[in-house]
Amino acid sequence: MHSVMIGVVAAVLLAASAEAQEKAKLERGRQVYAEQKCTMCHSIEGKGNKKGPLDAVGSKLTADEIRQWHLDPKTMAEKTKSVRKPAMPAYAKLPTADLDALVAYLQTLKKDGQ
Ligand code: HEC
Repeated sequence: MHSVMIGVVAAVLLAASAEAQEKAKLERGRQVYAEQKCTMCHSIEGKGNKKGPLDAVGSKLTADEIRQWHLDPKTMAEKTKSVRKPAMPAYAKLPTADLDALVAYLQTLKKDGQ
């Protein structure tokens, strides 16, 4: 009986810590977005440059596409025939963990705010 209880408690704790980690990652992503001054060219919830809203980018693009925009914006602009200037600069020098967090955060931006 006790081992079952311990198992249940451990599972609950693990789930809680995974959730906390995910939350910390999204928080870091939000921070990277602010630190890198993405708002010079983009807006979220009306804050920033309204020519480049990112409010629904999580519905529009996959995680890989969002990542590519940061690693190789030139190719992505060519692919999407984007002519907006100034063009998106590359963020290939961001630490991988920061880029992962940023991509995870941007993925939460969905059309209906879900
Ligand atoms: C100098 C201006 C500039 C800066 C700074 C900039 N971007 Fe961009 N970004 C662009 C342009 C231009 C595009 C091409 C899309 C378009 O034509 O609006 C783009 C595209 C994107 C896309 C794809 C959008 C879509 O709807 O397909 C994402 C995601 C993105 N940027 C995120 C970011 C993030 C996050 C940062 C900060 C790390 C950032 N950008 C910084 C100019 C900029």
